[in-house]
Amino acid sequence: MSATELDRLRATDVYLIDQILKGRLDGLGCVVDVGAGAGRNLPWFVGRAERVVALDPRPEAFEAMDEAFFELGLTATARAGVERVLGRIEDAPLEPGTADLVICNAVLHFAADAAEFEAMLRGAWALVAPGGMFFARLASSVGIEGGLVPLGGGRFLLPDESERFLVDARGLEEWPDRLGAERLEPVKTTVVSGLRAMSTWVLRAAGGEETLL
Ligand SMILES: C[S@@+](CC[C@H](N)C(=O)[O-])C[C@H]1O[C@@H](n2cnc3c(N)ncnc32)[C@H](O)[C@@H]1O
Repeated sequence: MSATELDRLRATDVYLIDQILKGRLDGLGCVVDVGAGAGRNLPWFVGRAERVVALDPRPEAFEAMDEAFFELGLTATARAGVERVLGRIEDAPLEPGTADLVICNAVLHFAADAAEFEAMLRGAWALVAPGGMFFARLASSVGIEGGLVPLGGGRFLLPDESERFLVDARGLEEWPDRLGAERLEPVKTTVVSGLRAMSTWVLRAAGGEETLL
């Protein structure tokens, strides 16, 4: 891997890097990053996927993305090639089933309550093309149950003093079944000792050519 390629991965979520290194994300048609923020998970796919879309409800996110991509040395043409869509996952103005890969990294735990969580999750899942991958990292209660203060509606005060919507171990297992998703990996949770827990879903939608390994 060249230094330039490594640069493009430096800010990428390590569990997404894991999927890239496993060769599951080669030659993609369309990648959609929902709640893309400054787009740290997208540089690897620019020029590799046919279409790269960043969705976020905050215009400032796209300004930060422009700066980050410029600093990475992405050409003006490459930067302009990333489609910016202003909006929320739950009512995204994108065609259902358009994405071979949907990235939903550190977004779902901003849900205000269980209904909003479900709307966000189902909205993101609806974008996955048949045979495509849904990659999500979200805060969970796994391993930190004793340090949580319930705030109602599925939200908690965490030991790191943030307030998040949390999914528990059961929900992490049940949601993929409710969506009709296949698990490409078992649910993995990273517990940041005494602070928070982040769980990872790597799911595949049924149908299509099922080219993901
Ligand atoms: C912690 S940042 C994560 C950014 C990026 N995914 C990453 O991994 O660095 C959360 C992002 O989710 C966006 N967001 C929050 N609620 C959202 C929603 N309902 N739909 C889409 N994006 C949302 C925020 O604007 C913010 O940019």
